[in-house]
Formats: sequence, C-alpha cells, structure tokens
Amino acid sequence: MGIESSDSRPVILDADPGVDDALAIMLALGSPELDVLGICTVSGNVPLDIGTGNALKVLELLGRGGIPVYSGAGGPLRKEAVYATEVHGTGGLGNSALPLPDRSPSGDAISFMIETLSARPGEVTLIAVGPLTNLALAEARAPGVLKKAREVCVMGGAVEEPGNVTPVAEFNFFADPDAARQVVRSGTSITLAPLDVTHRVALAATHLAEMPATPAGRFVMEAVRPAMELAMRLQAGRRFFLHDPMAVALAIDPSLFRIETVFADVETEGDLTAGQVVADRRSFTVDGNRKGPPVRCAMDVDAGRFLALFLSRIFPVDV
Ligand code: RIB
Ligand code: CA
Repeated sequence: MGIESSDSRPVILDADPGVDDALAIMLALGSPELDVLGICTVSGNVPLDIGTGNALKVLELLGRGGIPVYSGAGGPLRKEAVYATEVHGTGGLGNSALPLPDRSPSGDAISFMIETLSARPGEVTLIAVGPLTNLALAEARAPGVLKKAREVCVMGGAVEEPGNVTPVAEFNFFADPDAARQVVRSGTSITLAPLDVTHRVALAATHLAEMPATPAGRFVMEAVRPAMELAMRLQAGRRFFLHDPMAVALAIDPSLFRIETVFADVETEGDLTAGQVVADRRSFTVDGNRKGPPVRCAMDVDAGRFLALFLSRIFPVDV
C-alpha cells in the first residue's frame, strides 16, 4: 500500500457492535491510512456488555488483540434504551459464533476519549458509528473536548432520505437524540454519513457467495446473512447496507463522496420526530439566521469505488 505508519491518521472508533460496526472495524484495521488507537463501545444495537464483548471478539478474529477496547455508556442520556436485535441478532453479530474473548475491556470509554483528544489536540479523528452518547458525555465532562478532534465522522441521521426507525429518524440519532443534538451543537468539525448516502451501497447475496473461505470470510457471511434475509422478508430486497463502513471510508478517502454543507439541528422531542435531522434550506433566509450549525453531509458516493475499497481492505489478498 506504500503508506508509512507515520502517515497513518490516528483514529478512535466509537461503536455499538452490531454487524455493520464489525465490518467497520474490519475496514478500519485493514486500511493503512488509519491508525486505530482504540475502540469505544456504547449501548445501541445491543446492550453495552454484548457490544463490548463483540468488539473484543472481532479484534481477536482479526489477530489484532493488541487494540484496546473501552466500555462506555450503558444507555442514552435521557430516553429508555432501544436496541436493534431484530436486525443484528440477540448476540449482535448475526448467526456468527466467535469464541469468547481472552481479554477484558481496558477501561472507561469517556475517560479514554477525553485523555486521547486532550493529549493530541487537532490530530485524532473520532469515527462514531453508534448512538452518540459517549461523545456527549465526554463533552459534558470536559467542555470543548470534541473541538480538539481533527474531525468527527458520524454515521447517523437522514437529511432528505426517510428514516429507518421512524418515518424521519435514523437509528443512531433516534436511540439518543439528546446526545446527537449536543454533539451537532458542540462546534466540532462534523462530517455526517446519513442514510442519504449509506442507502446507496449494499452487499448483495452474490457478494456473500464470493466470500473467501477464511475465518474472516465465514464470519462476514454468517454475520450478514440473517439481516439480508430479514430485508428480503420486508420486501426491501436481499441486501445489507454498509452504514458504518461508510463513516470509516470518510476518514480514509473523502474523495469517494459528494459532501454538502447543510445547516442542521436534531429534534429531541415528539413521537413522530425525535431523532429527526432538520435541515434549514429556506431560500429567503441568510445563513446567520438559519436553525442549527453548518454540518458537512456526505450526500452521494462513488458506489463502485467504495465497494472495491471495502472488499479489498476487509479481505486483503495475501501477498
Ligand atoms: O441506522 C444504521 C445505524 O444504526 C448503524 O450504525 C447500525 O449499526 C445501527 O447502529
Ligand atoms: Ca452502529
């Protein structure tokens, strides 16, 4: 790949593993452009302890047991916890059966985030692919800490695209809308991968059929297949969206995406609206009067290039 480790971009991955979170971990660790300093876990797709165990299991599958895992928030800031076990399975990784991890978490996610961002201001990229509870708690405990990140790449929200949990809300922002609003308003440099872009690329059954006969290939097939069959039963086609790997790809190669700046905020209330991204695109309003800060939103992607990058990185050809 020719990228020196000194050129790698230091990142913290905050996740709720989750099948696509596991794929995001595989993409991040398979990409020499990134130097993964640690993985933080948060309640989301599955309860925190299951997600934390899954992060440890996936790292051991990849032979990367040296990467530390830090356990974070066990639930949203205010709302009742919601999970997505109907998609990810009660164990969070579909039908896969990875061995129990040899390791335990290395510590508290919020402390790790604050310490790492404060020690290396402007250097570390936060990639958040679960509910934003950990990031909001870090900002509450150390005001201004998120602005010490080089960039915060977030999988979350839906700008023009319908939601995937309610008509207007995407799961990560729906699960903890208060955290999403606090992170969006924090003043940090956010680049969002909303459903508008993550719904443009999916793994198909043909991709699963071509998985390499390796432990990693078998894991992906067993993890993804149940969610793919669920999509088929819901008449949405036999496919699996790569939501979380998209946020990782934003840190690897932003040229894959068309990125727009949108003035946006997050609704925290309402049976029909909690978690909604409200974009202020009024024509007769000057930017200074718009609702919400300017947020960089990836609204389109070169699907072919992204999929090629993804598959080549999670299954590197043994040289
Ligand atoms: O809406 C998709 C997001 O919710 C992804 O991060 C997926 O892992 C779930 O957390
Ligand atoms: Ca996730």
